[in-house]
Amino acid sequence: MASHWEEFYSTHLPPSDFEDNRKLLKEFCERHNKSNQRIVLVTSGGTTVPLEHNTVRFVDNFSAGTRGAASAEYFLEHGYTVIFLHRVKSLEPFTRHFTGQMFMDMLELNERGPSTTITVKPDCVDIVAPILARYKNAQETGRILYVTFTTVSDYFWLLRAACECLAAFEAKALLYLAAAVSDFYIPSNEMPTHKIQSGAGAPTISLQLVPKMLAPLVSLWVPHAYVVSFKLETDDSILITKARDAMTKYKHKLVIGNILQSRRYRVVFVTPENNYEVILTREQMLNGLELEDSIVDNVIACHSDFLSAVTYKF
Ligand code: PMT
Repeated sequence: MASHWEEFYSTHLPPSDFEDNRKLLKEFCERHNKSNQRIVLVTSGGTTVPLEHNTVRFVDNFSAGTRGAASAEYFLEHGYTVIFLHRVKSLEPFTRHFTGQMFMDMLELNERGPSTTITVKPDCVDIVAPILARYKNAQETGRILYVTFTTVSDYFWLLRAACECLAAFEAKALLYLAAAVSDFYIPSNEMPTHKIQSGAGAPTISLQLVPKMLAPLVSLWVPHAYVVSFKLETDDSILITKARDAMTKYKHKLVIGNILQSRRYRVVFVTPENNYEVILTREQMLNGLELEDSIVDNVIACHSDFLSAVTYKF
């Protein structure tokens, strides 16, 4: 059975660096609320579910963090302030463009003479320069805050703390929940302290349902914000129904559905009024365009409509 969300918080301790992160979130939000700008919380990457308190083994949710990291860049481009709540070591805005050995291969080591210098290879400057310029701009204007999680419990503590700070932005706050969040876990009081020993034979692991945090998030924590959740499925025939069911149940504004295999080039927007696809053609992909560019454009248009409707009511 799913435990209630309040019970989850009362039985799971916050991460050890929680107070530091809460302080950072508070300061960041207070600073940006003065400038009357729109703000987005982007969640990204998968949460883990530990099998032991001293964790050697864990269950993971699938997500590289591409959706979240790419989207954060496009939100910055559109003038949003960004809180990027992401899984440790998942992809991050800007650095995501240089994964593996790619960045090293772009550099040249010049060891001639008394001093060593490092330069970007001339044929790579056009690739690095625009990304570096956007990165520098985001850093210098202080418009992005990076906060990390690993376990589903860390994620929930930080998600609630972020929402508490975002509530003051009311309708100017956008929540873009792209993280892949565990639905099953082992409650803290049922987890062994130490590494499960293979000598005792194959363990039988019993997982319980994690409470859906979308429920208190929408109704209590940020009731005036524009909340967008993602729905991941592997069976296309149930995607839209599941997305619409989630919207009906949690009463938020938009669900973006995607199928694991086609998530790079197709998503379905499910709104209270209708459904529509946002697609990247093969040609657009070959030209280096990213689906997140169009997703973010469409989400911002929905957020703008929502803001106009809210303003009109007053
Ligand atoms: O990172 P990439 O590799 O680019 O992949 C991107 C993605 C496929 C992970 C992303 O586009 C995506 O679909 N993310 C959401 C995955 C997910 O958690 O789907 P879900 O059907 O399990 O959950 C639906 C919603 O409920 C989510 O918004 C989640 O935040 C919320 N949830 C889930 C579990 C839980 N216990 N509480 C929740 O509130």
